[in-house]
Amino acid sequence: MPAGPQTPAAAAWDAVWRVQWPEIADAVIEQWQEPLFLVDRRTVVQHVNPAGRQLLRRQGTGEDSPVWPLSHALGVDGPSAMRLAGAVAAGQKDALVASGREGTDLAITVNPLRLRGQPAGAVVMVRDPTAAEQRIADQVRGQRMASLARLAAGAAHEIRNPLTAIRGFLQLLQSECREGTAARYVEIVSQEIRRIEGITADLLLLSRAPAADLRPCELGSLLRDTCDLLRASAADRGARLDLAVQPGTPACLAVPERLQQVFLNLVGNAIEAMPHGGTVHVAVRQATGRADGGTGLVEVEVEDEGPGIPPEVLPRVFDPFFTTKAGGTGLGLAVSDSIVLGLGGRIAVESPPARGAKFTVRLPALASPGHG
Ligand SMILES: Nc1ncnc2c1ncn2[C@@H]1O[C@H](COP(=O)(O)OP(=O)(O)OP(=O)(O)O)[C@@H](O)[C@H]1O
Ligand SMILES: [Mg+2]
Repeated sequence: MPAGPQTPAAAAWDAVWRVQWPEIADAVIEQWQEPLFLVDRRTVVQHVNPAGRQLLRRQGTGEDSPVWPLSHALGVDGPSAMRLAGAVAAGQKDALVASGREGTDLAITVNPLRLRGQPAGAVVMVRDPTAAEQRIADQVRGQRMASLARLAAGAAHEIRNPLTAIRGFLQLLQSECREGTAARYVEIVSQEIRRIEGITADLLLLSRAPAADLRPCELGSLLRDTCDLLRASAADRGARLDLAVQPGTPACLAVPERLQQVFLNLVGNAIEAMPHGGTVHVAVRQATGRADGGTGLVEVEVEDEGPGIPPEVLPRVFDPFFTTKAGGTGLGLAVSDSIVLGLGGRIAVESPPARGAKFTVRLPALASPGHG
């Protein structure tokens, strides 16, 4: 392009930018936070930026070499696919909202691309509003949890020291009064101290950074052990535990004892939700979609036949100290959430009307079959 009258320095800069333009454009595309697809005139994907590849993984497209038409990669419905193809072929700007795989809404913008004056395809920007909102919600929840956890851990630490002294003197008292009213009172105090110790242990767990000693963990056998531990207390309430493990479910990386705490809490809550009995359905399987790191996902579903969770209660169940139970501390789900987030996973909860509650824990799989 001929330049106007320029100083020699400006002309030199201009030349540098022109020469380096491909690199600059590449950097912009690669670092763009939103999914961006370069497609040819038949909407065949020619290039995808990292945010776009992440979107495709979430959509479960699962292939890294972009050879398919964009509408197929995104899994959008027929009319939206036709509109997208039409706009790209005609070299027209267009914006549409299409529903992608698994019912996610995708806001798609088509920006025509001309090369040497000729229509050459389009730059298509795709926003996944649910994922963006989810990211923000996760960040807010994470930050809120982190500051709450710091406070809680500080308090727990302070409570522990005097508690150790109290327990020591109580043991002395216990050896002095072995029967009568005093012995009964001492026993009650001792029980209550055990309860406080349980709470402080939970509070410390809440604030702990993700553990370094992660090991491969088979969810099937972990859930079998968990159900075995809880079967007796379930039977006391007339509840049954039904466990289905999909063969070939990949392992995940975790500290098994800590992850078991999560399932003890979830299955425990499910049993407690059915005072008149019923069945807790536990399923372990490989999930669709991909973790942020690109690996597959494994999931554990815990569904009960209790009354479910009222809509006004649902947003609060992961809050520390939120409980609707007379003897509850409200730490079970908060601790579980923090453990699962620490492993790069997520706990989701659903409670459709007139059904029981369903908690789903999704964790990154260690290796997914077919992907090395
Ligand atoms: N399966 C379920 N069905 C109905 N409500 C549930 C279920 N799971 C959790 N909840 C609700 O979420 C609240 C918080 O659960 P959470 O496990 O954190 O604490 P908790 O069970 O009340 O006490 P804790 O686990 O500390 O003994 C419960 O009090 C209950 O209201
Ligand atoms: Mg609980």
